Amino acid sequence: MPPETELWNRVEQTAREVFGTHGFGEIRLPVFEPTELFARAVGGETDIVSKEMYSFEDRDETSVSLRPEATAGICRAYIEHGMAQWPQPVKLCCFGPMFRRERPQKGRYRQFYQIDAEVLGGSDTPGIDSEVIEMVMVFFERLGLPGVQLEINSIGHSGTDTDGKLVCRRAYVEALRVALEKVKDQLGADSQRRVETNPLRVLDSKLEHEQAVIETLPRIGEYLCADCAKHYAEMKRLLDLRGVKYRENWRLVRGLDYYMRTTFEITAPGLGSQNAVCGGGRYDGLIELLGGPPTKGIGFAIGEDRLILSLQEAGKGGVAAGRDVYIAWMGEKAQATAIAAAQKLRAAGLRVELPATQQKFGKALGQADKLGARYALILGDEEVASGQWTVKALADGSQEKINEAELVELLKKKV
Ligand code: HAM
Repeated sequence: MPPETELWNRVEQTAREVFGTHGFGEIRLPVFEPTELFARAVGGETDIVSKEMYSFEDRDETSVSLRPEATAGICRAYIEHGMAQWPQPVKLCCFGPMFRRERPQKGRYRQFYQIDAEVLGGSDTPGIDSEVIEMVMVFFERLGLPGVQLEINSIGHSGTDTDGKLVCRRAYVEALRVALEKVKDQLGADSQRRVETNPLRVLDSKLEHEQAVIETLPRIGEYLCADCAKHYAEMKRLLDLRGVKYRENWRLVRGLDYYMRTTFEITAPGLGSQNAVCGGGRYDGLIELLGGPPTKGIGFAIGEDRLILSLQEAGKGGVAAGRDVYIAWMGEKAQATAIAAAQKLRAAGLRVELPATQQKFGKALGQADKLGARYALILGDEEVASGQWTVKALADGSQEKINEAELVELLKKKV
């Protein structure tokens, strides 16, 4: 609701500006898509798909779902609209509501808003990873949000080598599973289940009593293949070169299946346990998995609700007062003058309140104050006759007389 929507608009405008300087164009996605798309892209075993999606049967009995995230839809659009023929890479961003049936709490909602950005096609050089990360950090900096922290990791790739031997992430997951089996009895029920279904997710646990055990587990860094290790090292070098500060977190595995190599998350203060304001990473196999040509991809999504909360907590959520000018008028001649003045001021971009009926000046000034107007323009018959108008600053009550001719220039300057 207003006035908070002003802040939402400012955040989105800032994203459009910053992303625009990197050549991103905006894509508008459907709010629902075939369930199959999300199941394939995000992964059928993930919490998002298996527990949190709002799915329903369409009249032709196909299952459709409200989008839980934007990456799958953007990749679907890339394939469907032949974007592989465009100059690569294609840089797309999107804004809008996403839906997940999570337990609602501060910073976690069933309808929430994301600002999403994706770079599709081209090469998988870490030059792209580091630039995408730099861009989102510049966005947070531009908003003036203090205490933003970037965490990075590489989760390798999930292919096998030629003789079928497990390498890179698969070798790691196997080693992790073996290690977890040995300490299983020290884990809670959720983590015990994950040892079977998805050992990587155990690393996400925030349960106090599991932390010491998790710290003893093998780390992905020791299992990365030479190419993935090189990619990660080069990305870190390029982040340094760009002046982007980061912390490495070997436990950053992310809750969606499509990631490979680079993963990252950004946290902000003032949010309690839901402190991730952005998550992202590389997903080179995804477009091919969805039926498109082999295509590289990397991107992120910002949780806009959380970002707004964090800005407000940091005292950076202020929005401009409700009106620039309130025109207090009384008398028939003053009405004509007031209408003309309102037209001119609005044409100059000022936010003007012109009461539809005349009001006694005392009442009008009270109303102007309630609306948070910065200036009141006082127009009675006397002012109209003399062409000398009164402008009152509502903050300190000071008044001055101005000529009709200088009205727009003067108020524009003041505002
Ligand atoms: P994600 O980590 O699931 O990633 O979501 C990104 C951000 O959305 C989170 O960091 C959080 O700020 C916000 N978010 C998620 N769920 C909720 C919720 N229930 N309520 C409020 N905010 C929430 C993705 O969605 C990936 N598609 C990101 C991506 C894009 N990776 C590559 N490209």
